[in-house]
Amino acid sequence: MDGFGLTWTLMKLKAVRGTHDLFGAEISRWHHVETVIRACLESFGYQEIRTPVLEQMEVFSQSVGEDTDIVEKQMYYVDDKSSGRLVLRPEGTAAFVRSVVEHQLHRTGNPGRYFYYLSMFRHERPQKGRLRQFHQFGAEFINSDAPEADAELIVLLDQIYQKFGLTQYEVRINSLGNPECRQRYREALQNYFRPYFSELDEQSQARLDRAPIRILDSKNERTQEIAADAPTILDYLSPEDRTHFEITQKRLNEAGVNFIVDPKIVRGLDYYCRTAFEFTSNLLGAQSALGGGGRYDGLSERFDEAPFPAIGWALGMERLMLALEASGYAFPEPPKPFCYMAALGEAAFDILYPISLRLKRKGIPVELNYVQGKKLKALLKEANRSQ
Ligand code: HAM
Repeated sequence: MDGFGLTWTLMKLKAVRGTHDLFGAEISRWHHVETVIRACLESFGYQEIRTPVLEQMEVFSQSVGEDTDIVEKQMYYVDDKSSGRLVLRPEGTAAFVRSVVEHQLHRTGNPGRYFYYLSMFRHERPQKGRLRQFHQFGAEFINSDAPEADAELIVLLDQIYQKFGLTQYEVRINSLGNPECRQRYREALQNYFRPYFSELDEQSQARLDRAPIRILDSKNERTQEIAADAPTILDYLSPEDRTHFEITQKRLNEAGVNFIVDPKIVRGLDYYCRTAFEFTSNLLGAQSALGGGGRYDGLSERFDEAPFPAIGWALGMERLMLALEASGYAFPEPPKPFCYMAALGEAAFDILYPISLRLKRKGIPVELNYVQGKKLKALLKEANRSQ
């Protein structure tokens, strides 16, 4: 029986699989990394936006794509008696566009630069660098269809990794063209893959009719071998898309960003057009994607709104932390109390207590030992431990 008169069968409780607690030295490392990234985003003119954890299911099912892993199997559902089926946000972009449309932020017609730092939830098989609750910094740039905007986003993400002295990563970029050229490319892929149907993995077989481009994303070895000779999207780009991609590359070269054009970068979400990119690192093991994004002009149409151009990316914080640890990054020492106070006796404590409060209120970190009756030697030891 507990203090409320209730009887419980007590069990040891743990954090949910694929989620983690952050504390101690680790959280001060996170704070440091968050501060550097925020400063970078702000220096490029990006302003913070925070959207809720809960969204209506349709925010993602209508926009991310029916045939994507996120919508097919990774969303966490929450039943809400008044609002119907809600989900825990699995990614930031669709929620961002929902918010932009709801508040008509695009209506100014001016370029709008936004960033977020939020938890995301995906029901994935947890492993190193792959969690069910993870954290993303995201940057989204609306109302510009200039290739310079595409380059800006890639330069910005590159700049963030550079700020930490990371060198072991690759920038892979591709163009997915406009919806018409993607449709012609889909048909070409279907014609290419159909004779190999029985050799494709099960998921790729299921994707052949509805989402053949996603077959290029398969991790299955045989499917990858077959996909190696598949037609490339770059041969299907319209002249405008080709020019857009060329200028993006020219600007990246001017900015000194090393990149590889990789026509296999198709991204796991359906809303992309034109530029798509991924930053990968061999410091991470199997989950090698440090961050990624692309252009999503017209995503607002899936929210019943006129189209506006937009491009963005998200980076995984847990993966960045892993990469920094693997690269031997010198994290700053966690902050220590500036002053340690301990009293030898009650009368001394009565004097110290208000002094400690005065210091704290002035913003000076102080640790006052509340345990009384200890010997000087023991107190000095504790003081040393707190430093
Ligand atoms: P994404 O590629 O799904 O894109 O995720 C971006 C990054 O989040 C990945 O590169 C990875 O670092 C991290 N990430 C993804 N899933 C997990 C996981 N289960 N555990 C740990 N880290 C993970 C998006 O989410 C798009 N919304 C990006 C974007 C923004 N596109 C345009 N704007």
